[in-house]
Amino acid sequence: MEGWASLEHYRAGMLLSGAGDAIGFKWEFEFYGPVIHKEVKQMGGLKKINVKLPEWPVSDDTVLHLATAEALATGKEDEELLHEVASRYKEGMKDMKDRAPGASTIIGASQLNPGSKNGYRIPYNSKSGGCGAAMRTMCIGMRYPRPEQLSTLVAVAVETGRMTHPHPTGFLGGVASALFAAYAIQRRPLTTWGLGLLKEACPVVKEFVKTAGYAVSETEKDWGYFCDKWEWYLILRGLSTGKGPVVWPAKYGPEERDEAYKSFSWSGWGGSSGHDAPMIALDALLGAGSNWIELMDRVAFHGGDSDSTAVIACCCWGLLYGTEGVPPCNYINLEYRDRMENSAEKLYNLSH
Ligand code: AR6
Ligand code: MG
Repeated sequence: MEGWASLEHYRAGMLLSGAGDAIGFKWEFEFYGPVIHKEVKQMGGLKKINVKLPEWPVSDDTVLHLATAEALATGKEDEELLHEVASRYKEGMKDMKDRAPGASTIIGASQLNPGSKNGYRIPYNSKSGGCGAAMRTMCIGMRYPRPEQLSTLVAVAVETGRMTHPHPTGFLGGVASALFAAYAIQRRPLTTWGLGLLKEACPVVKEFVKTAGYAVSETEKDWGYFCDKWEWYLILRGLSTGKGPVVWPAKYGPEERDEAYKSFSWSGWGGSSGHDAPMIALDALLGAGSNWIELMDRVAFHGGDSDSTAVIACCCWGLLYGTEGVPPCNYINLEYRDRMENSAEKLYNLSH
């Protein structure tokens, strides 16, 4: 694993995912990106944002990402791990005051019954295509980062995703976020991430769903949308062969990005679904390179579901670049900072 993400990168991945969530959350329900950009400017820019309580709490995204991370950090595996995650999701739901959890997450978590047989499974829910699974699975890629661990990454991402999001658009989003974190750790070129998702991971997921034998026909019926939309995106950006160069619109500022993100979306709210939260995250990572300010402009300050797109992209960015160039005030006083750093360390040790 020479040249891969270090312990410092793991810490940065967890910390910055929380920072991105807290910052994006401030504007989760502002639907026009240019207004957000204006407000950030009035605050003195991102470098002046001191992310601390009570003004900048983390949202449900981080509470449940931490729940997943801390369950993985116990070192448990297989069914024992799934019961542990289910139990921590139920616990996490008690910490949702003013954090705006999504509908499928609330329903799904209430149906979990950890400790009893199959208690980590819930009935199929055809409305569970939201980004609730995608926003909390990056740590699965941090636990199982190696290419030869792909089948474990997939199994854990699918089964934990389905604890609230049995619809494939929902849990495939969970697979995408876990996979992108693993790719970041491996230093795999960004231009190949989408192709890896479609051509390498999705076939493994399809096979896993059959083998697991739960909601097989419903999953097959609802399967197409996620892959079709990703294929469309890869063509749009010139990434179908994974080589690039990336094709960008001539003008791609806050206003144009809002429109583009809407076109990625299911019903006009960019980043709120399982397919487009990781898609917007990747779009921003591709456009920003190692520039944190540019990343946040693209992924946290837009008119869509900004906390969910930021939590994914900022985790990958931290795994790639550490905290270099990030104003310390963006993360040093972050809520749950200790828990984030501790779980990052445990995940690093377990993965090595
Ligand atoms: N395909 C695609 N998108 C869908 C589908 C579908 N079949 N069904 C619903 N949506 P929700 P969550 C979209 O409310 O996933 C936190 O605030 C639909 O546009 O069940 O549990 C996070 O920060 C809907 O608005 O939430 C996120 O904002 C959206 O999925 C959110 O909660 C979210 O579905 C994620 O949690
Ligand atoms: Mg949220």
